[in-house]
Amino acid sequence: MSRQKYAANPLKYKEVEGISAKTFAEHFKLYEGYVNKTNEIYEKIANSFADPSKSAGTYSEYGEAKRQLSFNLGGMWNHKLYFGDFEDGKGTGPSEHLQRAMTEDFGSFDKWKEDFVASGMAARGWGMLCYGLDDGKLHNVVLDAQNAGFPATVVPLVLMDVYEHAYYIDYGTGRKGYIEAFFKNLNWDRVSKRYEKCQKMHNIWNE
Ligand SMILES: [Fe+2]
Repeated sequence: MSRQKYAANPLKYKEVEGISAKTFAEHFKLYEGYVNKTNEIYEKIANSFADPSKSAGTYSEYGEAKRQLSFNLGGMWNHKLYFGDFEDGKGTGPSEHLQRAMTEDFGSFDKWKEDFVASGMAARGWGMLCYGLDDGKLHNVVLDAQNAGFPATVVPLVLMDVYEHAYYIDYGTGRKGYIEAFFKNLNWDRVSKRYEKCQKMHNIWNE
């Protein structure tokens, strides 16, 4: 039995308002890289490339493969969500329900956004709005790598890539301009639906 290979989700848009085709094309190559590496690592593990009994926290081939697997799974899934949430020039806003939760947890939508943008400015990888399965609350967190900086029991609602590759071609070091463009094209319908599903998961989680 071998695990089915992953494949990158094709881009819905070649470019969107404020983010060029060149940026998307180059960025997509990185996404594909994470997909390929994930497949490669799983294949190696399946083919007994290293002895699992020699796995160790200091250094081991098996351990290193596991470490990089987590990184590449993060890269693959983060980018799938990120690219899938673009809706060219049609960034609207959260559903009434989600907006109410933002007001409850942050004070208002604007306060939520201020905190999210600040998180994105601080991050070395991703700014993330996530849903806490334990508390059913919204959290803005900072990821300094594809797989680092967040508690395990959360679900991403919005993932904003702030690695320089996401904006350098279009904005140079001007990350703020890119963040504005990101919001202009964010498909809030998808985000809001994800939020509704998370609420169901929260109820199951706490049964
Ligand atoms: Fe990226």
